[in-house]
Amino acid sequence: MVSTFEATPNIALIKYWGKRDSKLVLPQNSSISFTLGNSVKTVTSVLFSDRLKEDVAWLNRKKTSGEELARMLLIADLVRQKASISSKVAIASENNFPTAAGIASSASGFAALACAASDAAGLGLNPTELSILARMASGSACRSVLGGFVEWKKGEEKDGGDSHAVQIAPASHWPELHDLIAVAESGRKKIGSSAGMDRTVKTSGLYAKRILDLPSRIAKMRQAIMLRDSQTVFALSMEDSMNMHATMLDTKPPILYLNERSMGIIEAIEELNASEGKLVCGYTFDAGPNAHLICEGKDVAKVKKSVAKLHGIEKFYDCIVGAGPIKLAAKESLLSEAGKPV
Ligand code: PMV
Repeated sequence: MVSTFEATPNIALIKYWGKRDSKLVLPQNSSISFTLGNSVKTVTSVLFSDRLKEDVAWLNRKKTSGEELARMLLIADLVRQKASISSKVAIASENNFPTAAGIASSASGFAALACAASDAAGLGLNPTELSILARMASGSACRSVLGGFVEWKKGEEKDGGDSHAVQIAPASHWPELHDLIAVAESGRKKIGSSAGMDRTVKTSGLYAKRILDLPSRIAKMRQAIMLRDSQTVFALSMEDSMNMHATMLDTKPPILYLNERSMGIIEAIEELNASEGKLVCGYTFDAGPNAHLICEGKDVAKVKKSVAKLHGIEKFYDCIVGAGPIKLAAKESLLSEAGKPV
């Protein structure tokens, strides 16, 4: 009963920021992302076994405790309930990129965990059920259980049964699209996204306007993706990211995820776009200072050059549109049969 899955983060082009139900993780608005491929990823193994004495989880080879462990066990508990099993669980998860720094490690982590746990328990969930399961631990994770271009429909039902991700287009729809991630700081963020968004919903006056504007922005983004209209996709991505960060600044006390390096990147891309006479890149920032530079493959070198000259850019990850989670062979397991990390 051990299963190993690889999943990747996703980058939201229209962001989720704010819940209408904290327990069920139901969002205030729908969001649109693409799942990343060919670079950053999480591998997670799950073992349910009666030989285990206690529930245990490792993240990046360190034994977890407290809130971190509780969040991983939330998924394991839901799976145990659905599968009517009472065995203890062992979980091992590894990211090949900085954890909790605004590169959506929670999205890839909980998507991989939802897939591996339900598979290890023999549940055979469909993508909608997997998306709902992953959502319970981290909202954005519900989008990473699918590949390509994805919309998380906010849903209307009280129990969240219609709040899950759907694929708008597969990865093959737009293989030229890249997310060049510029790492401006790889440390953990100071305010977790859950606490941050709850505070924004409660105290930002600008937030209500954001929610009013989003349905039309989402419809435009969906259409621009279908048409592979890069100019509109880049413009709307920048608009939505700046709008979300404006509501964070308007939160009391304010939340500042962007740093001076992020600001330098924004200026550099604005200059590049102005000198090219068109948008060759759209920047977007999640809950952290690292920039996601959305551009087409032919422009990656140009975009990278304009940002690499800035002080303090630690690293780049060049991602394409990915196909979603994959099941790995038993020999790739991060856990031994006894439930110890290997
Ligand atoms: O899923 P969470 O709770 O880590 O929240 C993610 C929020 C953003 O990354 C800022 C936006 C998004 O839609 O991914």
